[in-house]
Amino acid sequence: MFTATCVAPVNMALVKYWGKRNEELILPINDSISMTLDANEMCAKTTVAASESFKENRMWLNGDEQPFQANARLQRCLDGVQRLALAHGGAHRFPLSWKVHIASHNNFPTAAGLASSAAGYACLVYTLARLYDVPLDEQLTTIARQGSGSACRSLYGGFVQWQRGSSADGSDSIAVQLSPATHWPNMHMLILVVNDARKKTGSTSGMQRAVETSALIQHRATQVVPQRSKELKVAIEKRDFNAFATITMKESNQLHAIALDTFPPCVYMNDVSHSIVNFVHEYNEEAGSLHVAYTFDAGPNGCLYVLDEHVPHLLAAIQLAFPNDAQQSVEYLKGIPVPAVAV
Ligand code: PMV
Repeated sequence: MFTATCVAPVNMALVKYWGKRNEELILPINDSISMTLDANEMCAKTTVAASESFKENRMWLNGDEQPFQANARLQRCLDGVQRLALAHGGAHRFPLSWKVHIASHNNFPTAAGLASSAAGYACLVYTLARLYDVPLDEQLTTIARQGSGSACRSLYGGFVQWQRGSSADGSDSIAVQLSPATHWPNMHMLILVVNDARKKTGSTSGMQRAVETSALIQHRATQVVPQRSKELKVAIEKRDFNAFATITMKESNQLHAIALDTFPPCVYMNDVSHSIVNFVHEYNEEAGSLHVAYTFDAGPNGCLYVLDEHVPHLLAAIQLAFPNDAQQSVEYLKGIPVPAVAV
């Protein structure tokens, strides 16, 4: 038997991916940019074993067996990595016909808008790549993309761009690292856990409905995102927190505006999420400049970006604004463990 075990972290989008131009290949309508968290914290851990004695491919997620054959994305990831293994000269330690058993665990809530599928599919594809001796490169990101779009960004650390590409086969819809986490080591992400239940409308159907019904989404994809992506790359390059925070918050707001412009509307944020938005704007107003930025994915939980030096003051203010609930510990980009706060 041959095995490989890997860990892949969550990434959180700054410029959001929302909408596909090809459902099957998972080709997005716009570029996106994200920050990958520290691999020791919110992550997926996957073990893949290949054996001559396995009768069929099987997969367990957090201990529960998942239907493998019925899961086209899972199958596509396995086929994709095996295809790359062949293309890389077939330097295999065992025949590709051997079946695999896959066990994956997330150390955070699954499908609660905390990017669990990104970490999960990135981890699956990376672990398969290790098993079959396939290197981490652009081509591998195109395979992870076909598991879950945002997963292609979790193959790299730091700041990562997923380029939409323009080819019909998706070969140029790849993730590239903009800069490693060490480029901006005092940047932290704090997660405010509002609700860790599974979201009502998954991102796949939310996006699909948005592309079909939102009158705003094409304007966003063609007129707004290209400019914002350019500006965010410069902000990251210069470590300009003010520009970073402005773009990040506007992006989050526009994602949820598009979700509300979907018919029937998709509502991911709740009253507590909105009070976090208000809290951040009031906090920055009092500070006299932007010290913290929020972003919300397809769920009610908030992610706050903040520089080291402002973390203690921000945490104190959060606990004052949202009393009763300081709990659990989750984490951020680099080092310093800051408690996540359930509000
Ligand atoms: O990759 P998916 O299908 O889980 O979609 C992710 C969508 C967002 O998290 C809302 C945005 C993003 O760019 O990650």
